[in-house]
Amino acid sequence: MKKGIFIVLEGPDRSGKSTQAELLKKWLEGLGREVVVTREPGGTRLSEQIRKILLDPKSEIEPMTELFLYETSRIKHTLEKILPALKAGKVIISDRYTLSTTAYQGYGRGLDLKTVKTLNRIATLNLKPDVTIVFDIPDRAFTQREKTRPGRDRIERAPDAFRRRVNRAYKLLARRPGMTRVDGGRSIEAIQADIRAKVARLLKN
Ligand SMILES: Nc1ncnc2c1ncn2[C@@H]1O[C@H](COP(=O)(O)OP(=O)(O)OP(=O)(O)O)[C@@H](O)[C@H]1O
Ligand SMILES: [Mg+2]
Repeated sequence: MKKGIFIVLEGPDRSGKSTQAELLKKWLEGLGREVVVTREPGGTRLSEQIRKILLDPKSEIEPMTELFLYETSRIKHTLEKILPALKAGKVIISDRYTLSTTAYQGYGRGLDLKTVKTLNRIATLNLKPDVTIVFDIPDRAFTQREKTRPGRDRIERAPDAFRRRVNRAYKLLARRPGMTRVDGGRSIEAIQADIRAKVARLLKN
Protein backbone atom coordinates (compact mmCIF):
# COMPACT_ATOMS: atom_id res chain seq x y z
CA MET A 1 0.00 0.00 0.00
CA LYS A 2 1.12 3.57 -0.69
CA LYS A 3 2.19 5.72 2.23
CA GLY A 4 -0.34 8.31 3.39
CA ILE A 5 0.67 11.95 2.94
CA PHE A 6 -0.65 14.88 4.95
CA ILE A 7 -0.51 18.23 3.14
CA VAL A 8 -1.65 21.48 4.77
CA LEU A 9 -2.39 24.72 2.91
CA GLU A 10 -2.14 27.87 4.99
CA GLY A 11 -2.48 31.59 4.48
CA PRO A 12 -4.76 34.53 5.21
CA ASP A 13 -8.33 34.76 3.95
CA ARG A 14 -8.50 34.89 0.13
CA SER A 15 -4.92 33.80 -0.30
CA GLY A 16 -5.89 31.08 -2.80
CA LYS A 17 -5.95 27.98 -0.55
CA SER A 18 -9.17 26.44 -1.88
CA THR A 19 -8.26 27.16 -5.51
CA GLN A 20 -4.89 25.47 -5.13
CA ALA A 21 -6.28 22.54 -3.08
CA GLU A 22 -8.64 21.54 -5.89
CA LEU A 23 -5.95 21.80 -8.59
CA LEU A 24 -3.54 19.77 -6.49
CA LYS A 25 -6.19 17.11 -5.91
CA LYS A 26 -6.83 16.71 -9.66
CA TRP A 27 -3.12 16.37 -10.38
CA LEU A 28 -2.56 13.79 -7.62
CA GLU A 29 -5.56 11.77 -8.78
CA GLY A 30 -4.11 11.81 -12.27
CA LEU A 31 -1.02 10.21 -10.75
CA GLY A 32 -3.19 7.43 -9.36
CA ARG A 33 -3.42 8.62 -5.75
CA GLU A 34 -6.56 8.61 -3.65
CA VAL A 35 -7.05 12.15 -2.37
CA VAL A 36 -9.20 13.63 0.37
CA VAL A 37 -9.63 17.41 0.51
CA THR A 38 -10.77 18.70 3.86
CA ARG A 39 -10.86 21.98 5.76
CA GLU A 40 -10.62 23.59 9.16
CA PRO A 41 -12.58 24.40 11.04
CA GLY A 42 -14.68 21.51 9.76
CA GLY A 43 -14.18 18.22 8.01
CA THR A 44 -16.50 16.11 10.15
CA ARG A 45 -20.14 16.52 11.15
CA LEU A 46 -19.32 17.78 14.63
CA SER A 47 -16.47 19.98 13.41
CA GLU A 48 -18.69 21.55 10.75
CA GLN A 49 -21.25 22.33 13.47
CA ILE A 50 -18.51 24.06 15.46
CA ARG A 51 -17.48 25.90 12.26
CA LYS A 52 -21.00 27.32 11.98
CA ILE A 53 -20.83 28.67 15.52
CA LEU A 54 -17.35 30.13 14.96
CA LEU A 55 -18.19 31.88 11.70
CA ASP A 56 -21.67 33.11 12.61
CA PRO A 57 -21.45 36.92 12.95
CA LYS A 58 -24.11 36.69 15.67
CA SER A 59 -21.90 34.52 17.92
CA GLU A 60 -20.36 36.39 20.83
CA ILE A 61 -17.11 34.57 21.46
CA GLU A 62 -14.20 35.89 23.50
CA PRO A 63 -10.66 34.86 22.43
CA MET A 64 -10.03 31.95 24.84
CA THR A 65 -13.40 30.36 24.04
CA GLU A 66 -12.63 30.84 20.36
CA LEU A 67 -9.29 29.06 20.80
CA PHE A 68 -10.88 26.06 22.51
CA LEU A 69 -13.64 25.79 19.92
CA TYR A 70 -11.06 25.63 17.11
CA GLU A 71 -9.05 23.03 19.01
CA THR A 72 -12.14 20.95 19.83
CA SER A 73 -13.08 20.89 16.19
CA ARG A 74 -9.48 19.90 15.38
CA ILE A 75 -9.38 16.89 17.73
CA LYS A 76 -12.47 15.39 16.12
CA HIS A 77 -11.18 16.19 12.63
CA THR A 78 -7.80 14.58 13.31
CA LEU A 79 -9.25 11.47 14.91
CA GLU A 80 -12.17 10.88 12.61
CA LYS A 81 -10.85 11.99 9.24
CA ILE A 82 -7.13 12.74 8.95
CA LEU A 83 -5.63 9.75 10.80
CA PRO A 84 -7.90 7.15 9.13
CA ALA A 85 -7.13 8.61 5.66
CA LEU A 86 -3.39 8.44 6.33
CA LYS A 87 -3.70 4.91 7.62
CA ALA A 88 -5.50 3.95 4.41
CA GLY A 89 -2.58 5.31 2.34
CA LYS A 90 -4.45 8.34 1.00
CA VAL A 91 -3.22 11.86 0.40
CA ILE A 92 -5.10 14.25 2.64
CA ILE A 93 -5.07 17.95 1.80
CA SER A 94 -6.30 20.20 4.59
CA ASP A 95 -7.31 23.78 3.88
CA ARG A 96 -5.89 25.23 7.17
CA TYR A 97 -4.60 23.41 10.28
CA THR A 98 -2.59 24.42 13.37
CA LEU A 99 -0.74 27.35 11.81
CA SER A 100 -4.09 29.14 11.41
CA THR A 101 -4.60 28.98 15.17
CA THR A 102 -1.14 30.43 15.75
CA ALA A 103 -1.82 33.22 13.26
CA TYR A 104 -5.43 34.12 14.16
CA GLN A 105 -5.77 33.30 17.86
CA GLY A 106 -2.11 33.79 18.78
CA TYR A 107 -0.91 36.77 16.76
CA GLY A 108 -4.36 38.08 15.78
CA ARG A 109 -6.24 37.85 19.09
CA GLY A 110 -3.11 38.20 21.18
CA LEU A 111 -3.43 34.96 23.15
CA ASP A 112 -0.28 33.53 24.73
CA LEU A 113 1.67 31.76 21.97
CA LYS A 114 2.86 29.02 24.32
CA THR A 115 -0.72 28.20 25.28
CA VAL A 116 -1.67 28.04 21.61
CA LYS A 117 1.29 25.75 20.90
CA THR A 118 0.39 23.41 23.75
CA LEU A 119 -3.25 23.17 22.72
CA ASN A 120 -2.26 22.65 19.09
CA ARG A 121 -0.10 19.73 20.14
CA ILE A 122 -2.88 18.20 22.21
CA ALA A 123 -5.54 18.66 19.54
CA THR A 124 -3.41 17.05 16.82
CA LEU A 125 -2.43 14.10 19.04
CA ASN A 126 1.11 15.08 18.04
CA LEU A 127 0.42 14.52 14.34
CA LYS A 128 2.65 16.70 12.13
CA PRO A 129 1.86 17.49 8.50
CA ASP A 130 4.34 16.16 5.92
CA VAL A 131 4.33 19.66 4.46
CA THR A 132 2.72 22.97 5.41
CA ILE A 133 2.52 25.25 2.39
CA VAL A 134 2.09 28.88 3.44
CA PHE A 135 0.88 31.50 0.99
CA ASP A 136 2.60 34.81 1.34
CA ILE A 137 0.42 37.46 -0.32
CA PRO A 138 1.42 41.02 -1.18
CA ASP A 139 -0.91 43.55 0.41
CA ARG A 140 -2.05 45.00 -2.91
CA ALA A 141 -3.27 41.56 -4.10
CA PHE A 142 -5.44 41.39 -1.00
CA THR A 143 -7.08 44.70 -1.52
CA GLN A 144 -7.89 43.60 -5.06
CA ARG A 145 -9.41 40.25 -4.04
CA GLU A 146 -11.31 41.92 -1.21
CA LYS A 147 -13.11 44.09 -3.74
CA THR A 148 -14.19 41.02 -5.73
CA ARG A 149 -15.83 39.31 -2.74
CA PRO A 150 -16.12 41.29 0.48
CA GLY A 151 -15.91 39.22 3.69
CA ARG A 152 -19.08 38.11 5.40
CA ASP A 153 -18.30 35.71 8.23
CA ARG A 154 -17.43 36.58 11.85
CA ILE A 155 -13.67 36.32 11.31
CA GLU A 156 -13.71 38.18 7.99
CA ARG A 157 -15.74 40.94 9.62
CA ALA A 158 -13.27 41.38 12.47
CA PRO A 159 -11.61 44.82 12.66
CA ASP A 160 -8.97 45.67 10.04
CA ALA A 161 -6.29 45.88 12.72
CA PHE A 162 -6.92 42.22 13.61
CA ARG A 163 -6.67 41.14 9.99
CA ARG A 164 -3.52 43.13 9.48
CA ARG A 165 -1.94 41.38 12.46
CA VAL A 166 -2.93 38.01 10.98
CA ASN A 167 -1.50 38.87 7.57
CA ARG A 168 1.73 40.09 9.12
CA ALA A 169 1.92 36.90 11.19
CA TYR A 170 1.62 34.74 8.09
CA LYS A 171 4.51 36.58 6.47
CA LEU A 172 6.60 35.77 9.53
CA LEU A 173 5.38 32.20 9.94
CA ALA A 174 5.95 31.40 6.26
CA ARG A 175 9.67 31.90 6.86
CA ARG A 176 9.91 29.66 9.90
CA PRO A 177 11.98 26.51 9.63
CA GLY A 178 9.81 23.60 8.56
CA MET A 179 7.37 25.79 6.62
CA THR A 180 7.19 25.83 2.83
CA ARG A 181 6.63 29.40 1.69
CA VAL A 182 4.93 30.09 -1.62
CA ASP A 183 4.74 33.49 -3.24
CA GLY A 184 0.97 33.83 -3.60
CA GLY A 185 1.05 37.04 -5.60
CA ARG A 186 1.57 35.23 -8.92
CA SER A 187 -0.82 33.56 -11.35
CA ILE A 188 -2.85 30.54 -10.22
CA GLU A 189 -0.89 28.35 -12.67
CA ALA A 190 2.54 29.51 -11.52
CA ILE A 191 1.65 28.87 -7.88
CA GLN A 192 0.25 25.45 -8.70
CA ALA A 193 3.43 24.48 -10.58
CA ASP A 194 5.45 25.48 -7.54
CA ILE A 195 3.26 23.44 -5.19
CA ARG A 196 3.39 20.37 -7.46
CA ALA A 197 7.17 20.50 -7.52
CA LYS A 198 7.26 20.58 -3.74
CA VAL A 199 4.71 17.78 -3.34
CA ALA A 200 6.44 15.64 -5.99
CA ARG A 201 9.36 15.26 -3.60
CA LEU A 202 7.08 13.70 -1.00
CA LEU A 203 5.69 11.20 -3.53
CA LYS A 204 9.13 9.74 -4.12
CA ASN A 205 9.61 8.61 -0.53
N1 LIG B 1 -3.14 33.52 -7.85
C1 LIG B 1 -4.28 34.21 -7.88
N2 LIG B 1 -4.33 35.40 -8.49
C2 LIG B 1 -5.48 36.12 -8.51
N3 LIG B 1 -6.64 35.73 -7.95
C3 LIG B 1 -6.65 34.55 -7.31
C4 LIG B 1 -5.47 33.72 -7.25
N4 LIG B 1 -5.78 32.61 -6.54
C5 LIG B 1 -7.09 32.73 -6.20
N5 LIG B 1 -7.61 33.89 -6.67
C6 LIG B 1 -8.98 34.39 -6.46
O1 LIG B 1 -9.01 34.95 -5.15
C7 LIG B 1 -10.20 34.59 -4.48
C8 LIG B 1 -9.88 33.76 -3.25
O2 LIG B 1 -9.34 32.50 -3.63
P1 LIG B 1 -9.64 31.18 -2.78
O3 LIG B 1 -11.08 31.07 -2.47
O4 LIG B 1 -8.97 30.04 -3.43
O5 LIG B 1 -8.85 31.58 -1.46
P2 LIG B 1 -8.97 30.99 0.00
O6 LIG B 1 -7.63 31.17 0.60
O7 LIG B 1 -9.54 29.62 -0.05
O8 LIG B 1 -9.99 32.01 0.65
P3 LIG B 1 -10.90 31.82 1.96
O9 LIG B 1 -9.99 32.03 3.11
O10 LIG B 1 -11.90 32.93 1.82
O11 LIG B 1 -11.51 30.44 1.90
C9 LIG B 1 -11.04 33.82 -5.50
O12 LIG B 1 -11.89 34.74 -6.13
C10 LIG B 1 -10.01 33.27 -6.47
O13 LIG B 1 -10.53 33.06 -7.75
MG1 LIG C 1 -11.18 28.78 0.93
